[in-house]
Amino acid sequence: MSEKQIFQPNPEFAKEARIGSMEAYNALQKRALEDYEGFWGDAAREKIDWIEPFSGVLDEANAPFVKWFDGGKLNVAAQCIDRHLDTRKNKAAIIFEGDRGDVQTITYLDLYKNVNRFANLLKEDFGVTKGDRVVIYMPMIPEAAYAMLACARIGAIHSIVFGGFSAEALKDRIEDAEAKVVITADGAFRKKKPYMLKPVVDAALEGDTPVEKVLVVERNEEEVTWKAGRDYSYNELIQGKSAVCEAEVMDSEDPLFLLYTSGSTGKPKGVQHNSAGYILWAQMTMEWVFDVKENDTYWCTADIGWITGHTYIVYGPLAMGATTVMFEGVITYPDAGRPWAMVENHRINQFYTAPTAIRVLHKMGEDEPKKYDLSTLKVLGTVGEPIDPPAWKWYYEEVGSSKCAIVDTYWQTETGGHIVSPLPGATPIKPACATLPLPGIIAEILDPATGEKVGVDETGYMCITRPWPSQIRGVWGDAERYVKSYFGDVKKDGKAVYFTGDGAVYDADGYITITGRTDDVINVSGHRMGTAEVEAAIKKHANVAEVAVVGRPHELKGEGIFAYIVLKSDEGVADEVEEVKAINTIIKQEIGNIAVCDDIIFAPGLPKTRSGKIMRRILRAIAKGEKITQDISTLEDPSIVATLEKIVNG
Ligand code: WTA
Repeated sequence: MSEKQIFQPNPEFAKEARIGSMEAYNALQKRALEDYEGFWGDAAREKIDWIEPFSGVLDEANAPFVKWFDGGKLNVAAQCIDRHLDTRKNKAAIIFEGDRGDVQTITYLDLYKNVNRFANLLKEDFGVTKGDRVVIYMPMIPEAAYAMLACARIGAIHSIVFGGFSAEALKDRIEDAEAKVVITADGAFRKKKPYMLKPVVDAALEGDTPVEKVLVVERNEEEVTWKAGRDYSYNELIQGKSAVCEAEVMDSEDPLFLLYTSGSTGKPKGVQHNSAGYILWAQMTMEWVFDVKENDTYWCTADIGWITGHTYIVYGPLAMGATTVMFEGVITYPDAGRPWAMVENHRINQFYTAPTAIRVLHKMGEDEPKKYDLSTLKVLGTVGEPIDPPAWKWYYEEVGSSKCAIVDTYWQTETGGHIVSPLPGATPIKPACATLPLPGIIAEILDPATGEKVGVDETGYMCITRPWPSQIRGVWGDAERYVKSYFGDVKKDGKAVYFTGDGAVYDADGYITITGRTDDVINVSGHRMGTAEVEAAIKKHANVAEVAVVGRPHELKGEGIFAYIVLKSDEGVADEVEEVKAINTIIKQEIGNIAVCDDIIFAPGLPKTRSGKIMRRILRAIAKGEKITQDISTLEDPSIVATLEKIVNG
């Protein structure tokens, strides 16, 4: 199979698909181009249950601060739950599979009641009101989804922090959002053993904190400490709460949630998404890209701590009235057949995961898919990083029996939902290629110098040149950073356009392949990591004078973290193993296990220009084991390059 090979959509599938041909795709995209507001206005009227209709579609007067569907009133939780009660009250909304194999089916009616009780608890016992920030630090259990939707129901803004982040990282995010409440769990189960979250919250709240109350879902029932007047058991407080809670009437542009993500500085950004535009696109992309049918069961393996979990485990599937699977465990436990056993057991029709997971499942269990009945599968998705052709091929042939479409969905926290992706019933796919912009998304690869579209095979900047409904609305508390981070690099026709931070290239068919970040953000196992964040953590080590962190290719993780460290004592390192351990311990404390370095190299110096700028390009090349061919004569000390090459590559 060559990289150029094209796979046509399965004709049986295409017949039933919402967008069933390239003609249909082209017609939608043409309509969007010719009548942008008409396209989006119609979609919003059709898809959203408005409490009050909107008056304007797009308001660009204050660009890049834009408004969509101004004047409209809605409630996102009602969009995801209440409106389905007439037709789907006994349909499974969430199928939960625990780490130990325990299964819970939560119908739309159950979901309605559980979310309302949760919302009443937050209102009555914790005094949470519209606009308050609530941090959610939770395992993958149904209560995490209830917590999100309960916030949406009462107009509180949730900010989920991935359960793998450390106390320090959690503290930073709590403080930046000035959260009043934290929702957590004692812990949960991983590989049949309990693990803990509440102690991390305790540590994050030491000293001054804006947090008044902590709600603890008792999942694993391990011993935790309870601070009187601050910590409360969800399992106790939820008893006797009313299953009716009126949905707060929200404006289209009222914030729905914050989600912190890495950028090119040490401080994570609180990406803000608002109500109407976000939920509209979450629902539309679910319908188009996964093409979930009424009786289907859909599973996304992400964690709710990332945007994929927000949009494609909770909001998107529920907004369209689908059945979404939530999984607490580890996909390779008890063996690498676990996901395929789950596909067979739950008769899953759409499966969505990250290339890292595919690589691991391939490596650990190449023949596992054969042992299970995977015939229900129709669409396979990937997200988070470029997928390599061998992993793609295995996914396509062994998991999908060469009959499922693979949707390589390209998007990011800031875009809210997919922006470039195949449509399973329409787009001829090419391995490891995100293909074409979705209808309504004006995504273009531009030359940053001229703002012109690049030619075939020329790498340029992946931009979105018109505002779209689910776009980031701001960086929490930092309007300037929003403008600078996303609208500072590329101008088209003199107008600042949204730049994703990724490079991309067109092929002769106009298909888009994402080539990776152009900034100092790396992608480790599909998790976005700012090298500056890792550097800031390492600098907390008393003996570190200088540090530079770069990404290097990694067989399973996509990218690994490579740190060059100059120590203060110049007598060399007394005990390298101990020093590496100490540095990784600091990283675990400051960020979490996900940021632990794959390689740490102690160096006598770093390659710098005479003005003191670290030449990361050189460091990246050395970490990759590449020969340095570029001119290094402008360096303050060119000899450092040979020294580093010797240390790293021998
Ligand atoms: C990368 C995850 C190649 C990209 C949804 C982007 C991808 C970053 C793909 C966003 C893909 C995501 N092909 N690269 N299909 N999808 N990326 O915010 O670099 O965690 O900017 O959102 O992941 O990561 P984030």
